This record gives sequence, structure tokens and C-alpha cells, in this order.
Amino acid sequence: MKETQTILSLITQSASLLERAGVDTPRLDAELLLADLLGVGRAHLYAHPEQELDTDVLREFLRRLERRAKREPLAYILGRAEFYGLEFTVTPDVLVPRPETEVLVEAILARAPQTVADIGTGSGCIAVAVAVNLPRAQVWATDISEGALRIARENARRHHVADRVHFLQGDLLQPLAGLRLDVVASNPPYVAESERLSLQPEVRDWEPPQALFTGADPLQFHRRLAAEAHFHLREGGWLMVEVGMGQAEAVASLLEEAGYRQVRIQNDLAGIGRVVEGQYSPK
Ligand SMILES: C[S@@+](CC[C@H](N)C(=O)[O-])C[C@H]1O[C@@H](n2cnc3c(N)ncnc32)[C@H](O)[C@@H]1O
Repeated sequence: MKETQTILSLITQSASLLERAGVDTPRLDAELLLADLLGVGRAHLYAHPEQELDTDVLREFLRRLERRAKREPLAYILGRAEFYGLEFTVTPDVLVPRPETEVLVEAILARAPQTVADIGTGSGCIAVAVAVNLPRAQVWATDISEGALRIARENARRHHVADRVHFLQGDLLQPLAGLRLDVVASNPPYVAESERLSLQPEVRDWEPPQALFTGADPLQFHRRLAAEAHFHLREGGWLMVEVGMGQAEAVASLLEEAGYRQVRIQNDLAGIGRVVEGQYSPK
């Protein structure tokens, strides 16, 4: 690239480089990287296309552009992602929050629970979004990963809910020993090892494997949640889980076989069955 660059020429060249690297949204990503570095909104880039960039900005931009060209997720380069209208700190210790997971948050909020568990909290996006939107709720958020819990705690502090979100490290429901809650929710890993090669490089090569992969059985976490969650639900409480594409019917059957009532599938915006919920009501 040239020594001096204007905003427009830099964006144009960077977008074509990212396109060649196989990035899905090359121009948008180039704009977001530059806007972030300049500390401006994207509108500024359109309003000042002829603005010349100084060498320091250019050098740092090219470093970040190179990372993106290696298919590192934009959210890791920026250090943040938006979820449910809130900004979350993200690092390679946590899964990048996905828009489809907002369906799970909606399902939780619709039950207006006072006590909620978020199992496998990652960045804390579900737990924190619920705590922010239900100002009286107490939330327990668990993860097996210490690194993820560090980021989740930071996100709870960032959104002023650290006093109501209780972070616990451990395997699945084990940290909830002795608790009975209104809602047990989870977006657990649900990708079979055999699907690894079909994933985008951003996911396959950069996101934490333990947030994604389940070994041979893609539903192993859903099976355990269906079998064990009722020990941590009060009577009438709800188990709510996110599922991968094509898994909703099988998970609904798991919940029914485990004795849950009113089992229901909720679709995401793409019309894909994304959340399965069922009510614990012992006979
Ligand atoms: C699909 S990610 C979901 C992260 C976050 N809740 C979200 O929706 O973006 C699954 C999370 O489960 C955690 N996890 C994996 N195995 C676990 C286990 N056995 N017990 C508890 N958490 C686990 C991973 O560390 C990861 O943070």
C-alpha cells in the first residue's frame, strides 16, 4: 500500500484485500476497523473521504487489517461485541455473542423470573442482559473456563449488575448444588466434532474449542441438562436451552422424555428452531 492514504483510498484497498482473504463483509469490516482506530463513527468516514491519515494510524491499521485477513473475528480485534443492545468485552477466552442467542434472552425475560441460572456463561452476555433487564432478579452464571469467567465478571461490572450476578466455576449444573431457581437457561456447546471442517475459519480457528465442540454426540450437553436441571428448578420453573440448526425437535423430545411439560420451540429471525423450553411440574 502507498505511504500516504486518504480514508477513501485506504478503505477501498483494504476491502479488496479482505475480499480476497474470503471475509464475508469486507468493506464493512474495513470501515469498522478504521472508525474504531480513529475513535469516530462510520458516518465520519463517509463525510471526510479525502482526509489524509498519519503514518502511525496507518501502521496500526495495517496491523489490525492483517489480523482480520487471517480471519481473526472482528470482535476479538476490536475487543468488543454488541448483544441485546449492550456492549460486551470479548477476548479469545469467550465465544463471540451471536444475535440468535437474543432469542434465549427474550424467552427468559418473557417469564419474568426472580432467579435465573445461565449455564456456560462465556462472556456473560445472557446473564448480564437478563440482570440489566430484570432489575430485581438474582442470576447465577457458571462456566468451566476460568478465563471466560474473568471476562464475564468484567462485563457484569461494566453494566453495574455485579452485585446480582453470581459467578461460579464448575462442570455444568454442579456449581448450583442446593439451589432451586425459576429458570435454568443455557447456550451449551452443540457442534459435533465431525462438523469442524465445515465451519468458517473465524469460528474453527479462533473461538474457544470448549465453547463449540461436543465430541461425537452434538446433544451431549442437552441430554445432561434435560436429565439434571430439575434438581435445580422450583416447581413450575423452566428449563430453556439454545440449540443448533436442525436440533430443535430432538431436544424437544429429550425434554418431554425427561418429564417436562408445555415443551415449546421458538424460532430465530431466520425461521430456525433456536430455543427449546419446558416446564418442570412434578406430578
Ligand atoms: C456456546 S458457548 C456460550 C457462551 C455464552 N453463554 C453465549 O451464549 O455467548 C458455551 C460455553 O459453555 C462453557 N462450557 C463448556 N463445557 C462446559 C461444562 N462442562 N460446564 C460448564 N460450562 C461449560 C464454555 O466454556 C462456553 O463458555
